[in-house]
Amino acid sequence: MTKKLVLGVLCMILSTWTVAKTTIQKTEGVNKLTVHADQGRETIAPEIYGHFAEHLGRCVYEGFWVGEYSDIPNVRGIRTDVVEALKKLNIPVLRWPGGCFADEYHWKDGIGPRDQRPKMVNTHWGMVTDDNAFGTHEFLDLCEMLGCEAYIAGNVGSGTPEEMQDWVEYMTFDGDSEMANLRRKNGREKPWKIKYFGVGNENWGCGGSMTPEYYSDLYRQYQTYVRSYPGNWVAKVACGPGGMDYNWVEVILKKIGARMNAYGQHYYVRGTGNWTQKGSATNFDDKEWFALMENTLKIDEIIRRNKELLDKYDPHGRIDLYVDEWGTWWDEEPGTKGGFLYQQNTLRDAVSAGIFLNEFNKHCDRVKMCNIAQINNVLQAMILTKGKEMLLTPTYHVFEMYKAHQGAKLLPSDLVCNGYEMNGAKLAALNVSASKDSSGSIHVTICNLDPDAPAELEFVLKGAKPVSITGRVLTAEAMNTHNTFENPNVIKPTALKNLEIQKGKICVTLLAKSVSVLKIN
Ligand code: AHR
Repeated sequence: MTKKLVLGVLCMILSTWTVAKTTIQKTEGVNKLTVHADQGRETIAPEIYGHFAEHLGRCVYEGFWVGEYSDIPNVRGIRTDVVEALKKLNIPVLRWPGGCFADEYHWKDGIGPRDQRPKMVNTHWGMVTDDNAFGTHEFLDLCEMLGCEAYIAGNVGSGTPEEMQDWVEYMTFDGDSEMANLRRKNGREKPWKIKYFGVGNENWGCGGSMTPEYYSDLYRQYQTYVRSYPGNWVAKVACGPGGMDYNWVEVILKKIGARMNAYGQHYYVRGTGNWTQKGSATNFDDKEWFALMENTLKIDEIIRRNKELLDKYDPHGRIDLYVDEWGTWWDEEPGTKGGFLYQQNTLRDAVSAGIFLNEFNKHCDRVKMCNIAQINNVLQAMILTKGKEMLLTPTYHVFEMYKAHQGAKLLPSDLVCNGYEMNGAKLAALNVSASKDSSGSIHVTICNLDPDAPAELEFVLKGAKPVSITGRVLTAEAMNTHNTFENPNVIKPTALKNLEIQKGKICVTLLAKSVSVLKIN
């Protein structure tokens, strides 16, 4: 065979290779899943399980930062209970300081003796005064405590290229320079490693109301000064679109694709409401449940459209797609401060998170980082705090259940399942992803979107023989079940019953409105 022919055949094989196929069957019956255990090719980047902490409401202040003199147990001002709980998620990366806040943040205000740091007004989020107690050193100390990479979002909207260059030099340069010496004077001899640097955030909106053309021009200029100093290669991340603004994607890929390593898509979901009335986090009906599931599933289409544009402008796959803000966004909890985006978190949020993570896994050939918004006390949080108390949300539990996928090989899967219907619209009732870890264990995560009907699932592992199986499930009686400070453990994972291996086939009952993880050896 000629070289050309071999290449042609190879391309054909690759183009027909799909990572996941879901078919809704016409007549209700047993749901069937095939997991291709012999075909794992792509690695699920651990960073898909990344997080985001903004100077917004009580995310950083109270959520992490309580100060060294607080009676809440802390290490160098960072609260111990929250860090200990988050360590169980194996957090790979944390994005900071915003969000919208990033484009009005001047990092030099957040270094040096705390009592001498200037104060600023957080104009995006509640007009509160930020005393800059939590700055670069505190954030990177937190990353070291969590054992995660830092993803810094730089200021394009109201900052200067010089300010951006100085920040990178301050954090990462090991030699003799004004910035490196300033860092030393402030108590940090050795530079930190900074793997990811965002050049602006939502510059089409809160980050400067720019057109994609104007942002692209500014990006060219600013990114020039984001230097990789010896020993620290930094990935440059461009601002991507909000939702389905594919024109933004097309323009930035065309104009600045060669100068970026990745760009960050944002996608927030809600139920039937609109941006002024997003709906209650806890008080909703089955139509709103359905609408959230429907909106969540649209992430698949959004990623596909991004991939099409990436394939056109970056056919060799050099540019990564990040989804560096995602999650549910509800009305703020009644009685809480406006602009603080504090919301409760129910089983509904958990199922939505489970679907998002399955979809990110399935697109791990291009999707290399995702950051749920946000880690504490804001939007779809992992942790809620009240003074000394803290609780784990249902979404926290999903991240804990899914952590086995981090760094594992994605296994292609074919699912044939029943529909979940509402007013003539139909969704696949089940949503799945599967992976094989380095020890050979297979993990399958499955969401049952239907709030009323359990689902019988039969599945086979192609190319492997299951010997043992265990499972955990997150579910509850009511759709809006959530943890409160009075009852912090109402909803948490329990052992999944009704699962067995019958003649090489796995049979499992997936409870209504649930997220399950199966471990198969
Ligand atoms: O996560 C809250 C806000 O949502 C972020 O600051 C901004 O980037 C987005 O609009």
